[in-house]
Amino acid sequence: MHGGNVERTVNQGPPTSLINDAYSSAGFDELSKAWQLTMAQHLDRMLTGESRVLNWQDPRQAVALAESFLTSAPQQSGQSVADRRERFTTLLDQMIASGQNLHNPRYIGHQVPASVPIAGLFDAVGSITNQPMAIYEMGPWATAVEHALVRGLCRKVGWDPDLSSGVLTHGGSLANLTALLTARNAALPDSWENGTPNKAVLIAHADAHYCVTRAAGLLGLGTRQVVKAPLDDRRRMDPQQLDHALTTCRANGQTVIAVAAAACATPIGAFDPLSDIAEVCDRHGVWLHVDAAHGGGALMSKQHRKLLRGIENADSVVWDAHKMLFMPALCAAVLYKNKSHRFNSFQQDAPYLFDPSSPGLAEFDNGISTVECTKRSTGFGLWGLWSMFGEEIFEQLVDHTFAMTRYVYQQIDAADDFESCHVPECNILVFRYLPAGITDAALEDQNRFQQQLRTTLIQSGEFYIVQTTLDGKVCLRLTVMNPITTEGHLDQLMAKIREIGLSILQSQ
Ligand SMILES: Cc1ncc(COP(=O)(O)O)c(C=O)c1O
Repeated sequence: MHGGNVERTVNQGPPTSLINDAYSSAGFDELSKAWQLTMAQHLDRMLTGESRVLNWQDPRQAVALAESFLTSAPQQSGQSVADRRERFTTLLDQMIASGQNLHNPRYIGHQVPASVPIAGLFDAVGSITNQPMAIYEMGPWATAVEHALVRGLCRKVGWDPDLSSGVLTHGGSLANLTALLTARNAALPDSWENGTPNKAVLIAHADAHYCVTRAAGLLGLGTRQVVKAPLDDRRRMDPQQLDHALTTCRANGQTVIAVAAAACATPIGAFDPLSDIAEVCDRHGVWLHVDAAHGGGALMSKQHRKLLRGIENADSVVWDAHKMLFMPALCAAVLYKNKSHRFNSFQQDAPYLFDPSSPGLAEFDNGISTVECTKRSTGFGLWGLWSMFGEEIFEQLVDHTFAMTRYVYQQIDAADDFESCHVPECNILVFRYLPAGITDAALEDQNRFQQQLRTTLIQSGEFYIVQTTLDGKVCLRLTVMNPITTEGHLDQLMAKIREIGLSILQSQ
């Protein structure tokens, strides 16, 4: 107060009618009805497979088109509700027409699921009410949901939720970085302040996802300090060779910040023998990190959780809900067996945010344990679905997609003109199409043939699969991530590959 002549601000409402329009609850009601109709029709078309899978467009044209909507936005205020609704539906239609149609059962490509649509409805609540959560009081319910989910996931790993802890992050890459940072801080307590000493190394699965090596770069360890743990003939980390690598590191005076195992590794979905690996790590006193970004979902399945036997002995686990729990991106978890490790990742003093006078509450402040400060309420979809359907929904999703992959493997294995590169352990399968006419060709011609085949296949819009290179061989790779995909769709995929492959050979 400055003296008696206090100027009072009179609330005259929002200054312009654009603000009025953008914040109008009646307008929101109108647009959300249009949204509901468009989305329901889209889903119906997708789930019945009545659409192209990939809406391929040259990226430069796509950017120009997206930009044209920005530059053609109506500038004037006072547009009618009907005008706004028309513009809104034009934009929605454009978004839908140009996307990748993951919900089409013929999308059998990347490790990104046809997410459960209802989960998106819960996520939308977070977007519309905006509940970020650096600290508990910023997003109290989002934080409560996150802590409840972490407890539920820790329980599935096999840990007591009162003794373990964790945090949700924007994706598995950030989750792996966070876990490995925590491991480094545990192995080298001075490193947060003084940096990582030269002789520190990380031992990682030779097929580890690239984000693990990237984490080594980010941590100041250096990517050259990643020792690749040798694999067995099923591309799984070999415990005996791991033992040898750890002994060698010790003899060289190197500190091993962690062993990063995989459950499963990305290329072919191989699950490491975690019990044996944990025993080796325990003997050497080294932190065991398990990247279960993809395979964590199998913990929900009575039939398949044996793939992760021994995971309960890990010090940290990464588990992406936006993979095999069928959540919309992004929702990933870093989990720690020892509850206190959640506070070892970062050492930050931010009096404007974290309140040292209430340490009991700080336990609930997620910003203390993540790279992010403002963080989306990433857990609403998972919490909503889990609360509506129970754990069994995840079991059914895992069991069905694993069974479909086993089915297509059996068809491929029985066919003379296909070659399977491994026996699938989950829902990832790598294979080649090798009809007569290409079987005796040089490897580089076979490789070019697989690449041409896939490009033609995905541009046809009928199917979407990916490719990879294994030991110099270019292969086709599929991941069944859509629970609507049936044996019939997989038979059609093989027929389409044959049709395209033979026409390529005929045209040569
Ligand atoms: C084993 C594994 N770890 C980590 C990641 C990276 O996860 P995100 O894409 O959520 O960053 C992937 C992605 O496919 C993966 O397969």
